[in-house]
Amino acid sequence: MNRSILTASAVLLLLWGCGTTNSLDDEQPNPPVDVTYEANIQPLMYNYCTTCHGGPVPSAGLRLTTYQEVRNIAEGGQLVQRVNDTTNPMPPSGLLSAQERELITQWVENGFPEN
Ligand code: HEC
Repeated sequence: MNRSILTASAVLLLLWGCGTTNSLDDEQPNPPVDVTYEANIQPLMYNYCTTCHGGPVPSAGLRLTTYQEVRNIAEGGQLVQRVNDTTNPMPPSGLLSAQERELITQWVENGFPEN
């Protein structure tokens, strides 16, 4: 067999291996144990939610710009429900990553730590 074909196969295998590792990481969330609003949840809200759920006229009358606002909707169950809703997800553009959704679930289960 020709040497350059062997080399090309090795490179392809290596690339394939890297891709596989990344997608495995996505499916096995491993969030930090101490999830807090300040460190983890607020950045998610500002990245994905407050363009609609903020400002003077928030979508659905729901503002997600302060700890108390996010905690209120989390206590009602709608936060975890809508970020995991495959037919009507929040954000509407598509589900967050498994890790991001796990952070939110963890935060709620841990009793909404602020900081
Ligand atoms: C592109 C605009 C947009 C973005 C971005 C967005 N939302 Fe929404 N959201 C809406 C609209 C419009 C509604 C009302 C219609 C509906 O419920 O689907 C809504 C409704 C909701 C509701 C239900 C409110 C209720 O009273 O039951 C929750 C909870 C929610 N969004 C959470 C989020 C969260 C959390 C994020 C970020 C991860 C997010 N949304 C991002 C537009 C948006």
